[in-house]
Amino acid sequence: MTESDFILSEYNLSNTSKGSVTWKTPSNIALVKYWGKQEPQIPENTSISFTLDACFTLTTLEFSKKENNSNDFNFGIYFEGKKKDDFKPKINKFFERIQQYVPFLKDFEFVIKSRNSFPHSSGIASSASGMSALALCIMSLERSLGKVEMSDDYFNKKASFLARLGSGSACRSIEGELIVWGNHKEIDGSSNLYGVKFPYKIHENFRNYHDTILLVDEGVKQVSSTIGHQLMHNHPFAKQRFNQANDNISMISKVLQSGNLKEFIAIVESEALSLHAMMMTSNPYFILMKPNTLKIINKIWEFRINTKSNICFTLDAGANVHVLFPESEKERVNNFIINELIQYCQENHYICDRIGHGAKRLSNI
Ligand code: DP6
Repeated sequence: MTESDFILSEYNLSNTSKGSVTWKTPSNIALVKYWGKQEPQIPENTSISFTLDACFTLTTLEFSKKENNSNDFNFGIYFEGKKKDDFKPKINKFFERIQQYVPFLKDFEFVIKSRNSFPHSSGIASSASGMSALALCIMSLERSLGKVEMSDDYFNKKASFLARLGSGSACRSIEGELIVWGNHKEIDGSSNLYGVKFPYKIHENFRNYHDTILLVDEGVKQVSSTIGHQLMHNHPFAKQRFNQANDNISMISKVLQSGNLKEFIAIVESEALSLHAMMMTSNPYFILMKPNTLKIINKIWEFRINTKSNICFTLDAGANVHVLFPESEKERVNNFIINELIQYCQENHYICDRIGHGAKRLSNI
């Protein structure tokens, strides 16, 4: 599909004039990372992520048809019950970017009410779940205005396409359990424009895979992903990094089908460290890991050697550690986390999450 397939050309405003819709949308954690992009939010390499379950955003979009036509986007935004005008520029920019695909945006007045299941200051990026939730709400409105029936496949693809224009990783937060974003010759149906479900049979070793997020450093990120992505332009290792990630996609695709956990661990940990290596070697350079991040990594390695566990870690663009492990090991790994790792978390905070099945609509228009 191309961009033009996502332009809504005909719609009927008399179908729906007032109402609301609510979506619950998960966060996701990349196994092969997206880091580096071109306009408009086109990734430099393919990425793949586990959709999460416990970390989600709940967004209600209230809409009412405008009485008089104005050429502005009219919306109010509430986050966790409080008016949040400082979120407005980001949403306005998102609306500007998607307006050509959803031309009805200026016909309505909106109130957006959103909240996260995870604490705002936890260092967990809320843009993936936040932007995908809003994109899904807008798609529900499009569906109710449409003159022709819309397939679920088109609905999900366009929701992912719109979410991508809000935040790249958000396009991987529509469906579960494993989502690929970015053209890759070995992944059928993959696209730079939207995320797709991993199209091959996933080995049962990955069923109900766990991700316990250790909150090492709660607080606003030191470097936003937007700035981070920009630093990949003119980065001395950019080309090698994009090739490495694409090769890792080929490898992880086989591993996800074969269930080889040792190889899975090697790819996932190398990806996390490569992402941070890119940050450490950019201009300007920065280190987002904290001393406790390294303490946890070393503890995980020690535990793995001593117990032959298949525990591993990944990182996003921050100091928090995502501890990944199979369902079959949940008891002993949970004990290890509680006894040995949470002491390195800020105020002992951590979130037990697992692989999830994607976004859910909680109320209809
Ligand atoms: C390190 O999707 O947050 O989490 O497209 O600028 O909104 P924008 O960036 P964002 O970047 C995510 C970067 C990452 C890796 C990943 O999720 O693949």
